Amino acid sequence: MLKDTLGRTLRDLRISVTDRCNFRCVYCMPREIFGRNYHFLERKDILTFEEIQRVARIFTGLGVRKIRLTGGEPLMRRDLDRLIAMLADLPDIDLTLTTNGSFPAEQVFRLKEAGLKRITVSLDSLDNATFQKISDVSCSVDQVLTWIEACEQARLTPIKINMVVRRGYNEKDILPMAEKFRGTGHIVRFIEFMDVGTANGWRMAEVVPAAEIVKIIHRVYPLEPLPSRYPGEVARRYRYVDGQGEIGIIASVTQPFCGGCTRLRLSAEGKLFTCLFAAHGHDLRRLLRSGCSDEEIKQFIVNLWRKRDDRYSERRSEATQNLPKIEMSYIGG
Ligand code: GTP
Ligand code: 5AD
Ligand code: SF4
Ligand code: SF4
Repeated sequence: MLKDTLGRTLRDLRISVTDRCNFRCVYCMPREIFGRNYHFLERKDILTFEEIQRVARIFTGLGVRKIRLTGGEPLMRRDLDRLIAMLADLPDIDLTLTTNGSFPAEQVFRLKEAGLKRITVSLDSLDNATFQKISDVSCSVDQVLTWIEACEQARLTPIKINMVVRRGYNEKDILPMAEKFRGTGHIVRFIEFMDVGTANGWRMAEVVPAAEIVKIIHRVYPLEPLPSRYPGEVARRYRYVDGQGEIGIIASVTQPFCGGCTRLRLSAEGKLFTCLFAAHGHDLRRLLRSGCSDEEIKQFIVNLWRKRDDRYSERRSEATQNLPKIEMSYIGG
C-alpha cells in the first residue's frame, strides 16, 4: 500500500475546480486583496473536465476513496454537474462538494441527478447582519437555508454545515447554530479559525478553542464524545446526550490531526499540494499536457506521496505563521 514518510496512506483527493468565488469572506478573500484588479487563473490554465476525470481515475487506482470538489466556490465553474456525472462513474467513491449555498436551489437537484452523494454547506452565522459582515456580500442567511432545505429534499445527506468560529465576529452564534440544527439530522461542524494563506491577518487571539466551543454548547445541551467514523477524520464528533444528533469540531489549531492526514489537494490549474499550508505545488498539468501515459502520471504521484512529510498544524508556531502559504480560496480548504 502507498504510504508517506510518516506511514499515512492516500485516501482523499480534494479537487479545486476554480479559484473564483462570489463571496468575499473577510477571513478568506478580503476585498482589499481580492478586488477588481486581482488576477484569477485564466481559463486556458485551468484543468478541463476531461483532464480532471483522467486524474481522478488514476487516483482511484492508488487507493483514493473520497473526492471532494472545492473552489473558491465550486459552483462558479460552469456546467459543474457535467463534471460530477463524469466522476460519478468511478467505482467506490464518496463524491462530495463544499459550497457556500448561495446559488439558486434548483441546482441542487441537478447535482444529485448527476451523481453527487452528499454536500457540505458553509454558514458562519444565522444572524443576517453578522453573516453579511463576514461574507461581505448581499446574499442572505435565508438563501443559504433554502439551499440546505433543497439538499434535504434531494437526500444529499448527511448534510454538514461548516461554521468558522472567529472571536469578535461570531462566537455568539455558536449556540444558536447548534440549536437550529439539533434534531434535523444535519451535522454542524465548528471550525477553529486557521492561519491558512497570508491574506486574513490571523491572530491566535481570534481563535476560539475547541474546548470553549464544546463548553458553550454542553452547558445548555449536554454532549458526549463519539468515536471517529473513519481513521483520520478531521472533525471530532460529539452527540447530544438527549439523542438529538451530533456535532463536529475541527480543531486544527488546538488539537491538530496531521497524524492521520490522508489528504492530497489538486488546484484548479493542476498543481498537487501535499498540505493545506504548503507554499509550493507539484505541476501535474505539465504531465497531462505533454503526452505522458497514465503509468507515468501514476509514478509521479507515487513518488510525491512517498516523500511526503508535511505536518504543519502540529508544528505551528510564531515562526511558521510567517512562511509563504497558498491562499484558501486557491486550494479550497
Ligand atoms: P467529511 O468527509 O464530511 O468528514 O468532511 P471533511 O472532514 O473532509 O471536511 P471538510 O472538507 O468539510 O473540511 C472542513 C474544514 O476542515 C475545511 O474547510 C478546512 O477548514 C478543515 N480541514 C479539512 N482538511 C484539513 C486538513 O487536512 N488540514 C487542516 N488543517 N484543516 C483541514
Ligand atoms: N480558517 C478556518 N476555516 C476556513 N475556511 C476558509 N478559511 C478558513 C480559515 N481561515 C473554511 C470555509 C469553508 C471551508 C472551505 O473552509 O468557511 O467552510
Ligand atoms: Fe468563498 Fe468559501 Fe472563501 Fe468564503 S470561505 S470567500 S465562500 S471560498
Ligand atoms: Fe494534513 Fe497539512 Fe492539515 Fe496537517 S496541516 S492535517 S498535514 S493538510
